[in-house]
Amino acid sequence: MKIGFVGAGKVGFSLGKYFCQKGLAVAGFFSKNPKSAIEAAEFTGTEKFDTMKQIAEVSDVLFLTVPDGQVIPVWEQLKEYNLAGKIISHCSGALSSTVFSGSRKAGASCYSAHPFLAVSDKFYSYQDFQNALFTIEGSPEEMDKMCGLFLSCGNKVQKIRPEDKMRYHAAASVASNFMVTLAFEAQKILEQSGFSEKSAKEALSYLMRQNLDSIIQRGPAAALTGPIERGDAGTVKGHISVLAPKERLFYIPMARATLSLAKEKHPGRDYQELEELLK
Ligand SMILES: NC(=O)c1ccc[n+]([C@@H]2O[C@H](COP(=O)([O-])OP(=O)(O)OC[C@H]3O[C@@H](n4cnc5c(N)ncnc54)[C@H](OP(=O)(O)O)[C@@H]3O)[C@@H](O)[C@H]2O)c1
Repeated sequence: MKIGFVGAGKVGFSLGKYFCQKGLAVAGFFSKNPKSAIEAAEFTGTEKFDTMKQIAEVSDVLFLTVPDGQVIPVWEQLKEYNLAGKIISHCSGALSSTVFSGSRKAGASCYSAHPFLAVSDKFYSYQDFQNALFTIEGSPEEMDKMCGLFLSCGNKVQKIRPEDKMRYHAAASVASNFMVTLAFEAQKILEQSGFSEKSAKEALSYLMRQNLDSIIQRGPAAALTGPIERGDAGTVKGHISVLAPKERLFYIPMARATLSLAKEKHPGRDYQELEELLK
């Protein structure tokens, strides 16, 4: 089963390298910019292809690792070729396989296979793929083969309904992207409290790592601590009073969400004052 990639970016490089390491037959890469395809082929020890038609011909499984906005235009071009019996998958978390319009007529089985992972580097992120979960949905015909591809590499697979993909991806963004934003905002506020950039980063690294360990080991409710959990409206009022208007824009909605979690954790505790404050 030969695997090809259209789109030599972060995910294309990483998944291609990962599959090669697992001993799977990777044919190579086609990309909008030929230099990207050459670089990916060199990195993985595979071939670069000059046209999409060529890579489609040699691949049994074709991953469209292009930006989300390019999946449909690439598919529209791809389905002009002979795709009978082929497996086509994009890797978007937000899009489903329903974007592959006319797949039945084209004779292809189409999927979305999303690595539940932040892939931030073309050359190093492949090392993180071993423990990644892949979320898959698409045509029932080759579903076993598609899941088997990842299961054979030792990855976990989660099937999902196409209509659930956008909510699923929102969850991934909250956990992945917003964690980065929270770190960034906390660092800025610490720096305005007299910390240097270095000491702010160090202090936050320890706090955030320790917190993450606690969330993983005990779950979010058990890990929750702080003034909101304690129902300490005075401190929360103090925070709001010293934050800039822009900072309040994220602090207050986050505080409301934290209050909901605190109420779930302590159903009998009186949070009335905080409720009023955060209204
Ligand atoms: N990055 C993540 O953390 C992550 C995680 C999970 C899933 N995903 C999904 O994986 C997919 C790829 O994301 P990415 O982060 O790898 O993006 P990326 O680094 O921007 O790479 C996309 C590559 O696609 C190529 N490309 C763009 N338009 C093309 C076209 N019309 N034909 C052929 N190649 C084209 C570009 O190559 P050139 O250099 O040739 O212009 C670019 O390098 C997306 O669907 C994304 O949602 C990303």
